Amino acid sequence: MIDGEFSLRVPCGRGLVNWLEDELDELGFTERLPARTWVDLHGTLPEAASIVIWSRLATTVLVEIGRFPCTGPRELYEGVSCIPWEQWLDPDGYVSVHGHVRHPMIRNSMYANQLVKDALCDRMVDRTGRRPDSGPDRSGVVVDLYWAGDEARVYLDAAGRKLTDRGYRRDGAYAPLRESLAAAMVRASGLQAGEPVVAPMCGAGTLGIEAALAASGRPPGLLRPGHAMEQWLGFDHEAWKRMRAAARKQGGQTTAPIILSDTDAYALESARANAQTAGVLERIDLRLEEFDATPLCQDAVIFVNPPWGLRLGEEEALVPLYRALGDWMKQGATGGRGYVLTGSPRLAKEVGLRPSRRIPFVVGEIECRLLEFPLH
Ligand SMILES: C[S@@+](CC[C@H](N)C(=O)[O-])C[C@H]1O[C@@H](n2cnc3c(N)ncnc32)[C@H](O)[C@@H]1O
Repeated sequence: MIDGEFSLRVPCGRGLVNWLEDELDELGFTERLPARTWVDLHGTLPEAASIVIWSRLATTVLVEIGRFPCTGPRELYEGVSCIPWEQWLDPDGYVSVHGHVRHPMIRNSMYANQLVKDALCDRMVDRTGRRPDSGPDRSGVVVDLYWAGDEARVYLDAAGRKLTDRGYRRDGAYAPLRESLAAAMVRASGLQAGEPVVAPMCGAGTLGIEAALAASGRPPGLLRPGHAMEQWLGFDHEAWKRMRAAARKQGGQTTAPIILSDTDAYALESARANAQTAGVLERIDLRLEEFDATPLCQDAVIFVNPPWGLRLGEEEALVPLYRALGDWMKQGATGGRGYVLTGSPRLAKEVGLRPSRRIPFVVGEIECRLLEFPLH
């Protein structure tokens, strides 16, 4: 891979940046600058690749290849023309440009994207006599423009497609939790390998699957083949193969039971298919039953994302469910801890247990809380 250190930007979903920082710290990136939805740091290309393999919270890793003062379209074109694209792009390859623009002169970031694409293609023609194909598809090299105020930064997107779409979810019938949000909840719980997990009302199984992946130390970035960085010119495919093989060896299977349950047969079937694709099915016990029929093993870590009752009148109807959930944890648990994610402060109170932590998360546009209940 191309030698040297780069400025790296590691984006994440809203409300996840503290958990991303925590994770990056664990991965050895101690010098960081966090913003609202990303963390900036420095690293080599193999280090960027290691984040792609190991991060459960990052959306991607962006490698900065250009930064320049930019007060208008002309400077954008000139700045992008100075980037040595011929070092990164195959002139017979494919490139897509995506922009995040906050500038008074640019109403539509498509215009800025077009300028970037023109500038890079003109430079490629000038240096190589050929130009890559281009379009919106993220299957080739992916270029990201961040232009805010008087500065533009140009990045190569190492993953290309969101790392948080792990590739194990085939079924879009429900509105399941984002994989990165589920992973952040598991991180917030401090789940240790060997701790049993019980996830009733599991829906498509995201929480249980992320718990299984984290507890077994499985690298999430290997679930899906084909990251955009593999298309960079000079990308060291042999080193990447070795990195992936080493990461694969590190992950095992968790030894503790993982129980998922739901009353909806279709949900349970998609949880089964998803767990199988994620490679964790053999550890998972799937049960079609009411949540309070699900057995609680000793010292279990319970994860629940119950319905929140977002539509008018629904909240009131869910009061008995939340009360029963509290009773089930109170009466059934022999040690361990429970985590309930809800966007309804009213329903949170109905659980009837005193939370030891109320951890803020954001789901879509909704501020919600992950409530932690110590269980005795
Ligand atoms: C908000 S969804 C969970 C989504 C899940 N976290 C995911 O990522 O796919 C709530 C789930 O609770 C289940 N559910 C509702 N009431 C239940 C009950 N009394 N017992 C068991 N499951 C129930 C529903 O079938 C639904 O799948």
